[in-house]
Amino acid sequence: MKLKYFSHSAFQLTTSFGKKILIDPFLSGNPTSPVKANEVETDYIILTHAHGDHIGDSFDIAKRCNSTFICVNELANYCISKGFKAHNMHIGGGHNFEFGKVKFTIAHHGSSTPDNQYAGEPAGVLISADDKTIYHTGDTGLFYDMKLIGELNSIDYMLLPIGDNFTMGIVDAVKAVEFVSPKIAIPMHYNTFPVIEADPNKFKTLVDKKGFKARVLNFGEEIEL
Ligand code: NI
Ligand code: MN
Repeated sequence: MKLKYFSHSAFQLTTSFGKKILIDPFLSGNPTSPVKANEVETDYIILTHAHGDHIGDSFDIAKRCNSTFICVNELANYCISKGFKAHNMHIGGGHNFEFGKVKFTIAHHGSSTPDNQYAGEPAGVLISADDKTIYHTGDTGLFYDMKLIGELNSIDYMLLPIGDNFTMGIVDAVKAVEFVSPKIAIPMHYNTFPVIEADPNKFKTLVDKKGFKARVLNFGEEIEL
């Protein structure tokens, strides 16, 4: 399986069977993404919550690629109301898709659409495919139940925000890594805007010091998991 990082919280997974899953595709309006919305293809779009920097270019991409949304019930219904296909889920629930399993977790944040509609609870998401489990925390503050998420799941890659202000900053993110105990932690949601400037290498150094592993991905970089 491949993991591509566009910047901010936007990632794409490509499974060994060629299924593509985009997460929080904020691309064209994102000053740090080297890839724009018309340059991606995807079968599925997973949204952690409805804020503009996460819904991003979802609708343009879904229209062009005939993609299916996977998100919590209220946000899925919002996508359906806009004429898109969606699979409604909710926090704590898992479902097996053709590419693998998706399960939503809690996240401490907010979630309203860019046109100010209620979009349900914000979420994190566990994606298991090709024998790997990825935990994208979504936008969240630090919470102690991350320990339980780490206890119940063997997380290979944890994708977590470090930009502070709207989410965890570096110090809390390092604690989150300790709670979840992933094989590799990948920082996200930083340096997109001045208010979330953070040094990912400082995060990496602190994670390494605690005996865990972090990997900083360049914006636009794709790795083999
Ligand atoms: Ni947000
Ligand atoms: Mn955000």
